[in-house]
Amino acid sequence: MEILSPRRLEGEDSFERNLRPKSFSEFIGQKGIVLNLRVYVHAANKREEPLDHVLLHGPAGLGKTTLAMIIAREMKARIRISSGPAIERPGDLASILSTLEKGDVLFIDEIHRLHPAVEEILYPAMEDFSLDIVVGKGGGARDLRIKLSPFTLIGATTRFARLTSPLRSRFGIIERIDYYPPEEMMEIIQRSSSIFGIGIEKEAKAEIASRSRGTPRIANRLLKRIRDFAEVEGNGNITWEIAKGALARLRIDEYGMDETEREIMRVIIEDFAGGPIGLKTLAAAVKEEGETIEEVHEPYLIQKGFLARTPRGRVATTKALKLFSKGEGLF
Ligand SMILES: Nc1ncnc2c1ncn2[C@@H]1O[C@H](COP(=O)(O)OP(=O)(O)OP(=O)(O)O)[C@@H](O)[C@H]1O
Ligand SMILES: [Mg+2]
Repeated sequence: MEILSPRRLEGEDSFERNLRPKSFSEFIGQKGIVLNLRVYVHAANKREEPLDHVLLHGPAGLGKTTLAMIIAREMKARIRISSGPAIERPGDLASILSTLEKGDVLFIDEIHRLHPAVEEILYPAMEDFSLDIVVGKGGGARDLRIKLSPFTLIGATTRFARLTSPLRSRFGIIERIDYYPPEEMMEIIQRSSSIFGIGIEKEAKAEIASRSRGTPRIANRLLKRIRDFAEVEGNGNITWEIAKGALARLRIDEYGMDETEREIMRVIIEDFAGGPIGLKTLAAAVKEEGETIEEVHEPYLIQKGFLARTPRGRVATTKALKLFSKGEGLF
C-alpha cells in the first residue's frame, strides 16, 4: 500500500502508527465487521474491480482510520488521505478526484464536515465516476463531464446522523463500529504491551481495560503512561499494583471517566439539579467546546447509562443520581 497524501494523519504520532494493526488478521475484535469486509474485499479483488464505497461510523478512537488503511492494504491499493474540513472548495476535491488512478482508495475522515458545495461534486463521482464541472463564465459557460478512474471512497464519521441522505445512500457498504467489550480490550492491551516489549499481569490488563471506556486509543494512551510508572517505580513490568496506582494518579476513576466527564456529571447533578440543561449552558459551565462534549464525552456517558439526551436538554439518569449523589466523593 502506498500512501499518496502529502499530509500526515491528523494528530497521529509515531507511537500511534506503530501500534496500528496493519491487516485484518492483526485487527482485534469487531468480528462481524471484519468478516464482512474480508468478503467484500476478496470478492472485489477476484472480480478485479474496485471495492464499493465504504462508510465507517462510530465513536472516536475505535479503529475507523485503522480499518480504512487495512482495506487499502488488502486491496493492494494506493490510499489518499484527506478530511472533510480540509477540502475547502469544490475545485480542491475535483483536483484530488482527477488525479486518482484505477483502484485507488480515497479516504475522507470526518466526512460529515464536507462543505455542501464540495459534497455535490462527490455525488456523480461516487455514482458513475464522473466529474461535472462548469467551464467559462456568464453566457459562454457550459457544463463539462469528465470521466474519472474507478476508485473507492472510504468515508469515516463520528456523526452518522449528520450525513445528508444523498451522501449516505451512495455508500454500498456501511458499517458501525462500537465500543469494545472488556475481553477484546484486554487482547488489545496485550498486543500493545508485546509491541512495547513489556510484561503485563492479567489483573493489570483487566484494570486498564475496565477504565479505557471500550476505546483502543485510550487503552494505548493509558498503557504508555503506566509503562512510565512501571519503569520508574517497578521493574518495568506492569503489575496490578502499578496499574492501579498509576491510574489513580492519572485521575481516571473506576468508571473510566476523565475529569471533563466527572465535571459534566457534577454540573448537571449539583448545579442544575439533575437537568435538563442545554448543550450551550453545559459547555460554558464545564469550559469545553459543545462539539467536543457531543462527540467525545456524551457518547460515553450515554453508553454508561449516566446521561440522557431529551428534547429539553441533557439529564442525569436515575442510575447516575444514585451513584453520584453528594457525599460519594466522586466529584
Ligand atoms: N481493533 C483494534 N486492535 C488493535 N488496536 C486498535 C484497534 N482499533 C484501534 N486500535 C488502535 O487505536 C488507535 C486509534 O484507532 P483509529 O485511529 O483507527 O481510530 P478512529 O476510529 O479513526 O478514531 P477517530 O474517530 O478519532 O479518527 C490506533 O492507533 C490503533 O493502534
Ligand atoms: Mg480516525
